[in-house]
Amino acid sequence: MSIIERDPVTGHITTGHNWNGIKELNTPIPRIVIAFIIVTHLYALVAWVLLPTWPLGQTYTKGLLGIDQRNDVETDIARADAARADWTTALATQDFDTIQSNADLMAKATATAAALFGQNCQACHGTEGAGGPGFPQLSDNTWLWGGTMEEVAETIRVGVNSTHPDSHFAQMPAFGRDQMLDRSQISTLTDYVMSLSDGVQPDDSSEGAVLFQDNCAACHGEDALGVEGTGAPNLTDADWLYGGDKNTIHTTLMNGRQGQMPSWADRLSEAQIKMLAIYVVNLSKPAS
Ligand code: HEC
Ligand code: HEC
Repeated sequence: MSIIERDPVTGHITTGHNWNGIKELNTPIPRIVIAFIIVTHLYALVAWVLLPTWPLGQTYTKGLLGIDQRNDVETDIARADAARADWTTALATQDFDTIQSNADLMAKATATAAALFGQNCQACHGTEGAGGPGFPQLSDNTWLWGGTMEEVAETIRVGVNSTHPDSHFAQMPAFGRDQMLDRSQISTLTDYVMSLSDGVQPDDSSEGAVLFQDNCAACHGEDALGVEGTGAPNLTDADWLYGGDKNTIHTTLMNGRQGQMPSWADRLSEAQIKMLAIYVVNLSKPAS
């Protein structure tokens, strides 16, 4: 039951509800709230007349001011594209020597490429191309597929083991899994590869050296220095794509490796690919 009751302190009527002795005052809605509601409703009425507001199936009420944000964005984009067209066309059509001799063009290309790299490449190649297991470091001077700007641009364009018809192709065979070598031969070769930091010794007739020349030299070279442009890495340096510890080398020999770098020909424009090639090659140069 609720009984109408007046609060002796404030003089307001209470709502009559009683929550464990706590009562609520029935105070009127503050004027400021009413005023606010009136103003916002008036604004809405004016906005209906002036601005695009009501959907009408296929179209909408356009408003007297004729504001259309979609058109605004389209004109902005067209204007920005036109402003860039002269230098992106220059990038796409000129060779790297001409581009590099143009400081203004280089500045624009490098600034844009840094953002492109962050969006498209960093997830795999790391910040500033630092690389990681399975993902080559791009900021060093070791290249699987060549380190000139033309070669880097080509790698970005076609990818490695990608779906592009001209893709670079790299396959480290699974010598263990495919039973080309037995377990003890793989262990011998693992130790041999680990001993290669001083390079291949010409008079070495150990089992490991013989196995290497018979099975590996065709791709990695008789000197194990790798063959740039074929994707077979140098095995004598400290720069490992997958890792130079015993376990990783053993796994590489057992199961093979086939790294995948996507092709960007369909996703990036020629100008974007070339600015990325410039950016990537410059990552390996000491900052001047
Ligand atoms: C999905 C992961 C992935 C993404 C994204 C990716 N890459 Fe790669 N990239 C690789 C892998 C893996 C390789 C090594 C392929 C191999 O085994 O030879 C590689 C190789 C390369 C190489 C060759 C390096 C060398 O030593 O010759 C270049 C250059 C390169 N990437 C640039 C880029 C650029 C620029 C982008 C961004 C547009 C990019 N990559 C995006 C995975 C990726
Ligand atoms: C058909 C060519 C081919 C043959 C034969 C071959 N390799 Fe490879 N090897 C490659 C390629 C290509 C890669 C890089 C794979 C990738 O990029 O994913 C590689 C990668 C490796 C790696 C990983 C290097 C790193 O930086 O992590 C090791 C180790 C290796 N090979 C050792 C050998 C040994 C030992 C043999 C002989 C038993 C051998 N390879 C035979 C092509 C070959």
